[in-house]
This record gives sequence, structure tokens and C-alpha cells, in this order.
Amino acid sequence: MTETQETFPPPPEFAAAANVQADEYARAREDRLGFWAEKARTLLEWETPFTETLDWSNPPFARWFADGKLNVARNCLDRHVEAGNGDRVAIHFEGEPGDIRTLTYAQLTEEVKRAANMLADLGVKKGDRVAVYLPMIPEATIAMLACARLGAAHSVVFGGFSADALRSRINDAEARVVITADGGYRRGRPSGLKPAVDEALAGGDTPVEHVVVVERTGQDVAWTEGRDKKWGELLAAASPEHEAEAFEAENPLFILYTSGTTGSPKGILHTSGGYLTQATYSMFASFDLKPETDVFWCTADVGWVTGHTYVTYGPLSAGATQVMYEGTPDTPDKGRWWSVVQKYGVTTLYTAPTAIRTCMKWGEDIPAQYDLSSLRLLGSVGEPINPEAWLWYRRVIGGDRCPIVDTWWQTETGAHMIVPMPGVVDTKPGSSQRAIPGIEVKVVDDEGAELEGGEPGLLVITEPWPAMLRGVYGDPQRFRDTYWSRFENTYFAGDGARRDEDGDIWFLGRVDDVMNVSGHRLSTAEIESSLVAHDAVAEAAVVGAADETSGQSVIAFVILRADAEAGEDIAEELRRHVGSDIGPIAKPKRVHVVDELPKTRSGKIMRRLLKDVAEHRAVGDSSTLADSSVMDIISQQVESSSADD
Ligand code: WTA
Repeated sequence: MTETQETFPPPPEFAAAANVQADEYARAREDRLGFWAEKARTLLEWETPFTETLDWSNPPFARWFADGKLNVARNCLDRHVEAGNGDRVAIHFEGEPGDIRTLTYAQLTEEVKRAANMLADLGVKKGDRVAVYLPMIPEATIAMLACARLGAAHSVVFGGFSADALRSRINDAEARVVITADGGYRRGRPSGLKPAVDEALAGGDTPVEHVVVVERTGQDVAWTEGRDKKWGELLAAASPEHEAEAFEAENPLFILYTSGTTGSPKGILHTSGGYLTQATYSMFASFDLKPETDVFWCTADVGWVTGHTYVTYGPLSAGATQVMYEGTPDTPDKGRWWSVVQKYGVTTLYTAPTAIRTCMKWGEDIPAQYDLSSLRLLGSVGEPINPEAWLWYRRVIGGDRCPIVDTWWQTETGAHMIVPMPGVVDTKPGSSQRAIPGIEVKVVDDEGAELEGGEPGLLVITEPWPAMLRGVYGDPQRFRDTYWSRFENTYFAGDGARRDEDGDIWFLGRVDDVMNVSGHRLSTAEIESSLVAHDAVAEAAVVGAADETSGQSVIAFVILRADAEAGEDIAEELRRHVGSDIGPIAKPKRVHVVDELPKTRSGKIMRRLLKDVAEHRAVGDSSTLADSSVMDIISQQVESSSADD
């Protein structure tokens, strides 16, 4: 990654009025636990105040604010209404076809109360799990908060995941209820969701008792009497009164599945008080939120952690007004996002580098047709942002006046961890720079020794933090092995990083077999196992190759079975197979049919070498291969097949 020398200090007026000033770092460092306790007390409403901030007596299992009690939904809703802000807009919803819906805090509170009563009538109670498989419509947020209100954990599954992926997540979480929609709008057409739920639950043997269906598109869907219910009907019949019970700070709030280095996705478990504290703090700190005047827009889908923390919990707990948009940036035309910014007067835009690069490709004359002067802060998330995209974002979208916060965090961290505080730090294009106040990180070598001299190393988090994952659902050993076994009592994030001479952190991508495609995490192992499940495939290896727009793209190498009746377009068929097996985002960009895969003497596939081929580089050191001629053959095969397209 190229580094520019130029830095961008915050505009003086921005700095003067910023929520976080320079002294916050020192205060947090002097008394880290005191700092978080103060944030928890001042930013949240507690029914029972906590007396102990952190219990770290049994690492890596942390308990934050454990003897306190609160209701997360009350914190996101009722308390704002009770404080006199019921008429403030909570959500400006814009559907892809152009339909709009405005929900004030008072209206959203009532909807969530009804939804909580509806779920309670279906038997949902504290400790249960509810799966949510919805498009980006307000009901997604309403469903999540209704679960939180009852003390039940939700497991949101991204609407782009297949029936199989949905089934495995429902079963792993043992969800009793699924909340879905008939469909959603995507690229100008209704797409179906309910059929995938039917397929996921087919064959009986499922923990699911009820399926609640939001009518979004009005398309015909199959109906299983007794099991399927209409959201609209149940909600209309439900009482708008609901007293929220307070639950322990460590009551589970949600499970969110994410790709790891081994086959099956991990259910990342988050709990209530610590998560909400850090989510809320980061709204004020990273985004400098001024709830009375800002209009916040995070473009992420609620199916990902960014949508959990920066569409549902963070903005609503902080009392923000936000925009929620259902569709894609190019429907009906490539100016859609900028028309949304102009229409609602968005002040704070939070999106992913891949989207910024796509807009760059479309050309700056498109955003130039809109009034973007309401913007005052820009955010980036999901992957390292290349300096070119950063500079374009700042100049073309931010009119050279908006600070950019490059926010590093993970599904596991729950909320922001490394972000340049926008009123304090002189930003550098491409660097996330510093841990937020109250967070302690290091860059270390393989032995755990700290690196400060610019050498590349591994990012670790050295102290527990409030929004940290509490475990991998149902698998404490996997939690220990994945994150805590590499270094003692230190969290291993899986990211490469280095510090420059100013101590600023630059991310270098994943150091494990996790790929990052358009800001979405995918595991090589998961796609490989999908490929080998196809009748024609004997062996498969998948790598993430650098891609100009999406950051990385999925490139697969497969060996076909000798008896496979593979036609000409086997590569296309395998791409489709992965798309329907896991979801369109996992579809390999290319599938190369090869005769051999590079293996060490112990049989381990050397993906590093395949990555060289996929990125059209000279192949690196292959001396540990069992048969060193293999790479020549593969390179030749790939070149001749690439020449065909
Ligand atoms: C990557 C998304 C560099 C990183 C919130 C991390 C980033 C993974 C950044 C988590 C960033 C996220 N700079 N890399 N600003 N943000 N990443 O769980 O590799 O979907 O480990 O959470 O995305 O992805 P996840």
C-alpha cells in the first residue's frame, strides 16, 4: 500500500465542537475501568446500577457490569420518548422502489412494544433464540429490538444467504421462531425470501415452531398452516402497551454467524450492557454524533455486524436520526445514494471502501449533480481503504471539508476499536491510526514481542473491552482456540498490521484463511467444502486474490473426478453451485480446472502459491512442495484457460 505523506488536520470549527477532545485518551488510560464505568453510567439507563465494572477472573470469559440490570430496547426507545424526544425522527426509511416511511421515536417504540407482545404471545421468552431473515426494512430493526425487549437473543441471517446457510444457522442457534418477509426489492425487482425459509425448514426436524412473515412485496408465497403467520395481522392485534423487564447486563443479546478459518461459521455471542455501552460511546466518539442536528446513514445491511451496531443499536441508543435504505446504489440509477444524501440532509455517511471504489469507477460527475453540502463526517469500514479511494472520498463526496474516520473492528469486537478521533487526530489516508480511548492494542511478532519500528506483525488486543464477544455459541473450546491460544490472555484478531514512525496503525489484511470480498468475510474452507460437495469435484482449493473493486475476489482451483461427466461449462456450473449453496456473495469469480494442487509432503495445500498464480505474479518459493513441477503445470493450465475468456 502506498503511503502519502500528507495528513489532514480536523477543521478548526469541527475540532472545537468535537465530543471527544485530546485529553480523553489520557483519562481513559489512567483509569481504564473507571472510564468505561463512567461511560456505562452516563450513556445508558440502568434499572439496577452495577457495582463491579469488570470480572476477568476466568479469562477469556469476561463479565462487564455483571450485577447491573437494564433493558436494551428501553435504552434504544422509551428513554428517548420519556426525555421529551418522542417526535424526533428515528428512521427515515427509503425503499428501493421509492416508497418512504418515517418513524419517530414514539412510533418506533410503539411498534416494538406491539412486536414484543406478538413474540411473547408466540411463547418467546428470556433466553430463547429468534432467527431474523429480512430485507433492509424497518421491520428488521423492530424485530431485533422486540427480541431485546423480551431478553431473547436474535440471530440475524443476511437475506443474501441461501436456504442451506439459513438452515445451519437456525439449527445451531436452536431458534424457535423465524421472522422473514415474502421478499424484498433488489435492482428494481422483487426477490423472494420466504421460499428459502420454507426450504430451510423442509423435512421437519427443526427447532422452529412459528414463521412470521412481513408483507413487503405482496408476491404469492407458499403457506404452511399452523406454522406461518402474518406479521401485519399479528402486530395489529397486539397491544401497544408493554412494560420492559430489566435483564442482567450479561444476558445474551444476539448471535451473529461469521466465517472462520475452518468449515462451519461461528456463532459470535454478544451480551447486553457492555456491548451497548461501547456501541453508544462510539456513536458519540467516532461519529461525533450530535443527536439534535445530525442525520446519520450507515449503508450496511442489518445482516452484518455493521448493521447490528451502526443501524440498530448504536444510533438508536444514542438517540440519533438515521436513514435506512433498502436497495443497491445503482437503482434506478448511479446517483441514488447521492439523491438520498441530498433529500434527507445526511450529515454522516458510513460505508465500505468497495462502494467508494465502485463510485470512483462510475465517475465523479455523478455525485457532482447532487447537493452534498450537508455532509460533515465520513466513515469507512470493512477492509483497508486504499489511499486513492480515501482521497477521492474526501474530495468528491466530502467536499474537502469532512474528516474521514477509518474504523477498524470485527464481528467479534462488537463495536469500533481503532479509529482516528475526528476532532483530535490529523488523519492519514489509508490508516486507522489509533485505538479509541479505553481500548489497548499492540502490534506484535510471532512470539508476542511488541513491534514499533514499522515491521509488519499481528494485531492483538491486550485488555478486555466492554463489547467483546462473550464466546462462540455452544463451543467454548473453539472460542479459546481461535482467539486466545496464540498469545496468553491476549486476543488475536487475525489481522496483519504495522505501526509507522508516529505509532499509527496500518492494516495489512488477514493473516489467516479468511477472505474479504467487498467488505464481507468469507472462509476459504467453507467454499472449498461447498465445491467438493459437488459430484464432479475431487479436490478444491480457494484463495482470495487482490481485486481492484472488491478488495479481494474468490478464485477456485479444482481437480475433477476421473469419472466426472463434466461438460464445457463446468466452471460456470461450479460457480452457480457455490452461489446457491452458500449465497451469491460466495460465488467464485473464476474456477480453474487443474490436474494437480500444490501440496507439501504432509499433504497441506499451499494456497500461498495459488494466490501468486491468481494474482499473476511469479510463483514464490515452492521448495517445500512434494512435487515441485506441479506449479509449472498449474500456471500453464491457468494461463491457457484465462486466455480463452
Ligand atoms: C477487516 C466488519 C482494515 C479486518 C466490521 C477484520 C478492516 C475484518 C477494517 C472483520 C478497516 C474491518 N481496516 N481492515 N477499517 N474494518 N476490517 O467481522 O480484516 O465482517 O478482521 O466486521 O474486516 O470483518 P467483520
